[in-house]
Amino acid sequence: EAIEKGGYDHFMLKEINEQPRSIADCMRGRLDARSGRLILGGLQDYMNKFQNADRIIITACGTSWHAGLVAEYLFEEFARVPVEVEYASEFRYRNPVISSKDFVIAISQSGETADTLAAIELAKEKGATIFGVCNVVGSSIARATHAGSYTHAGPEIGVASTKAFTAQISVLSMMALMLGYQRGTLSESKYMTLLSELEAIPAKVEKALKLNKKVEEIAAQYKDARNFLYLGRGYNFPVALEGALKLKEISYIHAEGYPAAEMKHGPIALIDEEMPVVFIATKDSSYDKVVSNIQEVKARKGIIIAVVTEGDETVKKMADHVIEIPPAHEAFVPLISVVPLQQLSYHIAVMRGCNVDQPRNLAKSVTVE
Ligand code: AGP
Repeated sequence: EAIEKGGYDHFMLKEINEQPRSIADCMRGRLDARSGRLILGGLQDYMNKFQNADRIIITACGTSWHAGLVAEYLFEEFARVPVEVEYASEFRYRNPVISSKDFVIAISQSGETADTLAAIELAKEKGATIFGVCNVVGSSIARATHAGSYTHAGPEIGVASTKAFTAQISVLSMMALMLGYQRGTLSESKYMTLLSELEAIPAKVEKALKLNKKVEEIAAQYKDARNFLYLGRGYNFPVALEGALKLKEISYIHAEGYPAAEMKHGPIALIDEEMPVVFIATKDSSYDKVVSNIQEVKARKGIIIAVVTEGDETVKKMADHVIEIPPAHEAFVPLISVVPLQQLSYHIAVMRGCNVDQPRNLAKSVTVE
């Protein structure tokens, strides 16, 4: 086992650190920004259905559902297609309205999640086309779908999903760019720029991993907190949900993720000088709005830990701690901004003496409903 961990104390830490490579592996042979080549083998025979779909329905559970939420923003922005993101466990029992013009994307690391599998069967019965985004080759979901693209992240052993999440977003980003280009909602030049931006992500993730020491120091200060709040907007809203889920599952600290603007509709009542609030406040189209949300927390004496874009001086003046990540196109920022949140939950869990790779009550794949 020590050999399998490759010198790391835990699989989770190994998998967090593998992300520059796993994201690059996921894009290898599929994306070449210089020539403008973007190919997803599994999609070729279904491109027609994908391109002419009235709607994209994404179904998944847990972290994979969070990747689906990021994809909602990607597909709507780049391809102008309506998207619905459904918890598989709700979707399967809701008698949802589905037609043969719907393109359903099922996302699953393990490819064995019972609820996701049942959602696929239901959508299939109703005539939709089902596309799988799975990590485990030959898994039940990979076999149950009409077609799919593997995430090629390599085996993920830690129960808390890390590298599978970023690989899922990488596949979904490629799908959204392809769809936008085919549907003509992305101009040739925008498309080319976005391909280069996506191709540059692994190097930026590598840089973000170097924040580990700083994140560990922050973890040491807040490891005994009883609650955490994670706030973000736009593309970083699903990252807030994911950061909170990571912390809950491995450190057993209660954490909530929220769209930052929703805070004033309830969670703001929780804020006092003992509440760490993690903001994902990168320089993007909602930056100014997030800065106002930070001010609201500061006015109530909350502790502010902010993930910001390198060189940000505004948030630095307001926050108790800043974690500076490299700049990127806002659509691809989740691939980078999630990294320090994974590290934060990892270090807090280790410091609390928790079993990081096998947290209590959780299984790597949930094969029962
Ligand atoms: C993630 O950290 C969780 N352990 C969990 O939410 C997981 O993402 C969920 O069970 C879905 O699993 P899947 O991707 O294998 O379908």
